[in-house]
Amino acid sequence: MSPALPAIPRDRLPALLRAMPKAELHIHIEGSLEPELIFELARRNQVTLPYASVEALRAAYAFSDLQSFLDIYYAGASVLLKEADFFAMAWAYFERAAADNVVHAELFFDPQTHTARGVAMRDIVVGLAHACRRAHAEFGISAKLILCFLRHLSEAEAMATLEAALPYREHFIGVGLDSSELGHPPEKFAQVFARCRALGLHRVAHAGEEGPPAYIESALDRLQVERIDHGVRCLESPALVQRLARERMPLTVCPLSNVKLCVFPSLAEHNLKALLDAGLCATVNSDDPAYFGGYINDNFVQTFAALPALDASHAHQLALNSFEASFAPAADKLRWQAQLDAAFATAA
Ligand code: ADE
Ligand code: ZN
Repeated sequence: MSPALPAIPRDRLPALLRAMPKAELHIHIEGSLEPELIFELARRNQVTLPYASVEALRAAYAFSDLQSFLDIYYAGASVLLKEADFFAMAWAYFERAAADNVVHAELFFDPQTHTARGVAMRDIVVGLAHACRRAHAEFGISAKLILCFLRHLSEAEAMATLEAALPYREHFIGVGLDSSELGHPPEKFAQVFARCRALGLHRVAHAGEEGPPAYIESALDRLQVERIDHGVRCLESPALVQRLARERMPLTVCPLSNVKLCVFPSLAEHNLKALLDAGLCATVNSDDPAYFGGYINDNFVQTFAALPALDASHAHQLALNSFEASFAPAADKLRWQAQLDAAFATAA
């Protein structure tokens, strides 16, 4: 149990948001690929990009919805060919995460994006896992991998991807579901998720980002997920909100992503405070930081600036929620909670 929170003056809130330990639970590692690294890998791997320069690529980062982003995101990922490329991408993320005081990260990766181009599953998983081990050794970040199935592809293709990944089972802790949400409801993947459950894999799914509350219910009932990625549209269904609160089902919310993909018109209109007020286990995450204008601390600082009703107690709750919602061992969660309380005591 945390002691009573010390009073924190509002002007110290941004520094505290940056300094507090936190877990990142919703980061697509391919979405951390900065334009500079995209061009560097394109040069090394002799991949031709449909953009003339880093500036031209960045200028294309104006999205109208999820699909308009995904088209560019998959084009950016086309430069990843070798084990060393996957290592370099993840290592660049961990350097940013360490600077943001991330103590635990669960990274999504999309193998089908790469195997479709002839990249070996081994090179993807081993390159990412190497970076995870080094992040632990150098930064003390506990880092885990979650393999995501692309929902615009078939369940049979997801099943084949799972089989191809099983020789590397020790390197990932769970599975997720991402890509184009509308028209691809969770139940499309009920059988592959049932197999993952039987294999002892953790299960999460994107739902309620652009899709309706029924998609969140389907992820819970048909996929038996342990977390919902995004889930912000749950507020449209009071019965669903009650259920999510009762079951303490975590939501991995990504405020900057939601604004960039036009889920909300602005950060000032984001529903993060309403989610917390409803008693939900909401967390703050970056989603695709290279594309959405910021890493996890940018998400915290900009969201708190835009929503003045959020105060230090909300910051503490969000960090605590991130530990609770993680798939980390209980002893690690207790240690991070003590570090969190120490950060608040120092800031007071
Ligand atoms: N893949 C990468 N980012 C995503 C997002 N925000 N929603 C669905 N799929 C994604
Ligand atoms: Zn996402």
